[in-house]
Amino acid sequence: MPPADGLKRPVIFLGPPGAGKGTQAQEVARIYGVPHLSTGDMLREHVSRGTALGLKAKPIMERGDLVPDEIVLGMVEERIARPDCRNGFVFDGFPRTLPQAEKLDEIITALHLGRPAVLHVIVDANRLIRRLTGRRTCSVGGEIYNLHHRPPKVPGRCDNDGGELIQRPDDREDVIQERLAAYEQLTKPLVAYYRREGVLEDVDGSADAQTVTRRVMGILMRAEAAR
Ligand code: AP5
Repeated sequence: MPPADGLKRPVIFLGPPGAGKGTQAQEVARIYGVPHLSTGDMLREHVSRGTALGLKAKPIMERGDLVPDEIVLGMVEERIARPDCRNGFVFDGFPRTLPQAEKLDEIITALHLGRPAVLHVIVDANRLIRRLTGRRTCSVGGEIYNLHHRPPKVPGRCDNDGGELIQRPDDREDVIQERLAAYEQLTKPLVAYYRREGVLEDVDGSADAQTVTRRVMGILMRAEAAR
């Protein structure tokens, strides 16, 4: 069981597309009762609402490229300043570039949000592609399914709320290759960055989701105990 006084720090899931960041971040946030902050979900919400930010982000996301830092940073800065982030929160898909990581360090220090715990989720490329092409997401609550590993009870419908399950437009194989390339070039350097800061732990993400959650919780609880 996690300690009753909560997480009290930012948790960052770092890893390539399909590593299971969203699946694990949702679960850790649920266990600790803290917000799950996915910059991908925030951006997709802007796209579906047709905001100015969403109109800018849409073609970039459809190509599999990263949205410019200033757009993402503005969104994140506003979100983590809210009171519900005072007891910790779980990032999924952020930070993704060195400038984002450096800015996040500044914000965390200024707001006294605690030393982050960074979980680097490692999964081989073939498995990533299979997971991404099989992914389906609930259009109502955002629950994540997989046609191969975690199918819904009723095909095409969410187990929780019956919402329609949809495939993300960037889960086509050609776009997946672009996203993997963007990860290698722009995001992977963050592994060395956080390792140098002494806050990063590697997690083998190739097992089933429950096993990976147990590994993640083991790391977080050891970090709590050492504090
Ligand atoms: P984002 O939404 O963050 O996508 P991503 O990083 O490409 O990651 P994914 O959501 O594809 O994978 P995941 O690791 O979360 O895996 P999941 O748990 O879903 O970003 C989308 C786009 O937005 C970016 O390309 C970029 O354009 C933009 N963007 C977002 N943040 C940005 C930022 N900070 N800066 C700039 N641009 C940004 O799992 C995948 C599938 O596998 C699911 O079906 C799941 O059920 C299954 N699965 C998960 N774990 C397991 C397991 N252990 N075993 C078997 N199956 C599993």
